[in-house]
Formats: sequence, C-alpha cells, structure tokens
Amino acid sequence: TLIPVIISGGAGTRLWPVSRESHPKPFIKLADGQSLLQKTFLRAAALPGVEEVYTVTNRDFFFKTEDDYAAVNPGKLSTTYLLEPFGRNTAAAVAAAALHAESQQPDAVLLVMPADHLIHDQAAFATAVQQAAELARDGWLVTFGIEPEAPDTGFGYIEADGHKVKRFVEKPDLDTARGFLQQGGYYWNSGMFCFTPATILREMQRHCAEIVEGVQDCLGRSRRVQGEGIMQVELDARSFAHVHDQSIDYAVAEKSDQVAIVPCNIGWTDIGSWTALSNLLTSDANGNRIDGDVVLHDVKDCAIHGEQRLIGAAGVQGLIIVDTPDALLVVSKDNTQDVRQLYAALKARG
Ligand code: GDD
Ligand code: MG
Repeated sequence: TLIPVIISGGAGTRLWPVSRESHPKPFIKLADGQSLLQKTFLRAAALPGVEEVYTVTNRDFFFKTEDDYAAVNPGKLSTTYLLEPFGRNTAAAVAAAALHAESQQPDAVLLVMPADHLIHDQAAFATAVQQAAELARDGWLVTFGIEPEAPDTGFGYIEADGHKVKRFVEKPDLDTARGFLQQGGYYWNSGMFCFTPATILREMQRHCAEIVEGVQDCLGRSRRVQGEGIMQVELDARSFAHVHDQSIDYAVAEKSDQVAIVPCNIGWTDIGSWTALSNLLTSDANGNRIDGDVVLHDVKDCAIHGEQRLIGAAGVQGLIIVDTPDALLVVSKDNTQDVRQLYAALKARG
C-alpha cells in the first residue's frame, strides 16, 4: 500500500503578511477558495489505492487541519496525525512518519507530499508516483524531477544519470544554479519523496543518526489518541526539543548514494513568492491582477490582494500590494524574493 505523508509547517516567510508562523503557507487560500493544504489532501486521496493519509504538522494546527480536510472530504480515508510541539524541520518530520509507519505498516511505501505547491496534471502525477513506488520497493529513495525554468536558488538541483541521482545540491548560489542550467541534465527537486520506511530509516541512520534516534526516543514518550478512523500521536516536547533542526534535503538527499529520480511533467508550480502567487490570478487588459475590493486609475502591471478594506491605487506600475487586517505589504514586482529578508527584519524588531 501507498501512504501519502503530508508535511505542513514552516513559516513561508516570502509570503508575508498572508503567510506567517501563526498562519503558514499551506493554509493560504487560492482564488477558488481551496487552501494549498486542501489541494494536497485531495491530490493524495485521488491516488489509486490510497486508504490512509499521514499528516505531520504543528499541534496548534490540528483543528485547523482537520477542518480543512473535512471541508473537502473526499470519502473515507483514515488519517494519522503526527503532531509537533514546534517545528524541527523536515528531516525530523519525515523521521517521525517513517518510524510510525515502520511500527504500523512496515510494508507500506511512503510518499512525502509538501503542502505548499500545486500540481495541475493529476493523471501524470499518478503515473509518476507509480514509477516512484516501484523504485522505492527496490530500495531507492526516490525524488521527482521537474524541468528547471530558471536558475532559481530556492530549489534543490538534481543531476540525473538515468534513474540514478549523481548529485543533489540543495539551494545552490546563483552562479552555481546558472552553471547547472547551462550544463543541462539537471532537474529541480519537487520536494516530494517516495521510499519505504526501511530505506529512509537506513539512510537516516547512515547520514543523520542523531535525528532518527532523537525522534525515536521522542516517539517512545509520545501520547497516542486513537479514535474511529483517526489516530493522533502527540510528540513529546521535552525530547523533541533535542532533535536537530535540518531539512531532509541537506540531512539525507545531498548525502545518500541511494537516491533515484523520476523526471516528470506534472504541471508543478511552487508558490514561492508573491510573484508566483499573483500569477495564478488572471490579469486584466492593463496587466493588473486583482483579488479583493480594489479601484484603480492609471495603474499597470500591479497585483493587489485585499481582505477587508477598500483599496485605491493611482499612477503606479509594477507593484505588489497585499493588505491584511493587521499588516500591509508594498513591494516592487522584481523584489518579491526580498520579502524573506523583510520578514527577518520584522521578526528581529519583535
Ligand atoms: N511538519 C512540518 N514541520 N512540516 C514542515 C516543517 C516542519 O518543521 N518545515 C517545513 N515543513 C513543510 C512545509 O510546509 C512545506 O510543505 C515542506 O515541508 C517543505 O518545506 P519548505 O520550507 O517549503 O522547503 P523549501 O521550499 O525551502 O525547499 C524544499 O522544497 C523545494 C520545492 O518546493 C526542498 O525540498 C527543495 O529541494 C525543493 O526544491
Ligand atoms: Mg517550499
């Protein structure tokens, strides 16, 4: 059986002020009213043979997550929640899911699904997952390769040699990313992974033993609540606090020699910045993309997102304006990656 593992957390700082620690990126709702998390859940549920979904998220988001799932309920799926007291990054989240699966369904194949991107072609996705699951059963740690469009430094880069991965480089600097694109043969890492519990735990034991061991210790002390079709595992805070904060990409994917790739063309988009998010809205004749109650005069190539108030703009061009009840963002279209640094500055201010 295939068990999707939805990982949802992080702050999504480049999408401030809509995304923040208290309202991370997976909860962002798109124009059709569905959140990225709901879309991820539906994508998981629509895969053939899926009967159960794991979700690793912060315990503060448990009810919100359940509500999101219930609102799009795709039928009977049993759900297991691994609830973190605080984020310890994706290596710990994946270790928790893998250790839980090892004790419950050691023969399952796990499909790690980040809850912060979109996939437009479900049929192509299902085919890619099927190929990945076969490789996973043969002991590979499988990644999904996306044809790169630009030397984006926010992604992992994968050099493929047939199905085998020659090199995995997480978030290279701009010159390195440019070099990869020039050279060719590189893919973007989609952020999804497919493996058996045994494979990922063996590779973690090899490359980041302290993380699996820390999480194992934590699971041993964790509280389990079992209901009908639902299981909650509340990770013990005191032991989880000792676990290293590292992403699965740095902790395992860059180091392991058991990594394989399924190159795929599945209509994948990472909603990495306000530019990417606003590009999902259709633009009017002047290139403006509007979501909210907005009046414009002589405005070109702007994206404006409003939630409660009326917004007026005149004589501006190339701006992104995001208005929420307690914060307003104004940023030039060409600088939306800088919102990450802006967020850091805001946080430092307290
Ligand atoms: N439960 C849990 N706990 N989930 C987390 C945590 C955590 O502490 N931290 C992050 N996540 C979730 C995020 O919500 C997201 O769905 C996923 O894990 C990936 O984390 P990001 O923080 O968004 O990673 P990234 O975008 O910088 O990089 C990853 O994704 C890229 C593609 O979007 C890497 O895998 C890159 O290699 C990849 O190219
Ligand atoms: Mg991401």
